[in-house]
Order: sequence, then structure tokens, then C-alpha cells
Amino acid sequence: MMEQKTPSKKLRIGVLASGRGSNFQAIIDRVESGDLPVEIAVLVCNNPDAGAIERARRHGIPWKYIDHRGKPREEFEKEIIEVLDSHGVELVVLAGFMRILTPLFVNHYPNRIINIHPALLPSFPGTHAQKDALEYGVKVSGCTVHFVNTDVDGGPIIIQRCVPVLEDDTVETLAARILKEEHRALPEAIKLFAEGRLRVEGRRVKILSR
Ligand code: GRF
Repeated sequence: MMEQKTPSKKLRIGVLASGRGSNFQAIIDRVESGDLPVEIAVLVCNNPDAGAIERARRHGIPWKYIDHRGKPREEFEKEIIEVLDSHGVELVVLAGFMRILTPLFVNHYPNRIINIHPALLPSFPGTHAQKDALEYGVKVSGCTVHFVNTDVDGGPIIIQRCVPVLEDDTVETLAARILKEEHRALPEAIKLFAEGRLRVEGRRVKILSR
């Protein structure tokens, strides 16, 4: 008798977002097109008005609002961990999540948290990356997907994509050009992770061939 192959289990991802959620949408689109073999297990938002929540609703994705205000960071993070773990999350994706994570959270998911940043790290970390890049006068910028460790915007780099900075750029036009690349880079990094093709060696992330 032939043995039936059981279909391989899809990686379960949890997305943390604080705002409009266009990166979250890029992940949803890739999953729905069949090109990203993961299950979006849950969205966690710390902002009740986040566009990301509306996107989760529209696509039937479980979501949870957790308020960060008026409590110690660790308490907020414990609440998130509880939600992520109860949904069986194996990879945490920060898609415009505007809270700094403490070692409590980071150490709970070693090399299992990735973040998208709108600049070519280690240049321009922080929350005003596109403005900082423009004001500094760089001629190229871009985005970085990296593993999250306890250094803010400092973990091992998975993917970077660049864009030119044009003569007449404003913060808005530069941010829009970078955002297009974010929407390609973040799902791509998740896919590499899901395929088991990322190996972290110190600061370097090796991408294994198929
Ligand atoms: C993106 O530029 C991301 O790199 C930064 O915050 C922004 C979030 O945008 N961390 P969105 O909510 O995914 O549309």
C-alpha cells in the first residue's frame, strides 16, 4: 500500500502593527495569491484606530487590540506574548509596530522576530528614517528587513532593497518610493524564513539556496 504524504504544515505568523497596515496588506496579498506559504494566525495592534485592524477584518484574520498605555512595558509585552502563543505563532512580524520591545519579549522569540525599517541600516535607525536620510543628503536609501534583537534597529540583516533619492524629493515622495520596496522585501523575507532558508551566523544572515 502506498503511504499517503501528509501536507507540510504552514508556518504560523503573528503580525504586530500600529498604523495604516500597508505592509500587513502586502503580506495578506502574497498569502492570498498563493505565493507565500504561511498562515497569518493573528494581528496584534496597540492602536484601536489602526487601518491594519480594518484590513484584518476584511480578510477574516483574527486580531486583538492591546493598549500599551498606563502599564509597564513588560506587562504590555506579556499580554502580547499570551495572544501570540495562544495562536501558535512561530514567527513574529513587526509591520510598522511603533513600540520598542524589551529583552522580555525579544528573548521569548530568539531569531523569530523580524522587522521592516524604511532605511538602509545601520544608517538612519529610529522613527524618522526617511526624513533623516533626506536631510543628510544621501543619494540612495531604501529599506531593511532584519531580525530583532535587543539593540533597536540593530539585528542581523535579512534583505535590503535600495531606491534613488531624487533632486526634488520631499519626505513624502521618498517615503512612498521606499514603501513600494518594503512591500516586496517583507513578504520575501517571510518566505525565506518559512522555507527554512535563513541561517544566522553572528551578524550575518546566510540565505541558503533551495
Ligand atoms: C513603514 O514605513 C515601516 O517601514 C515603518 O512604519 C511604516 C509602516 O507603514 N516601520 P504601514 O503601516 O505598513 O503602512
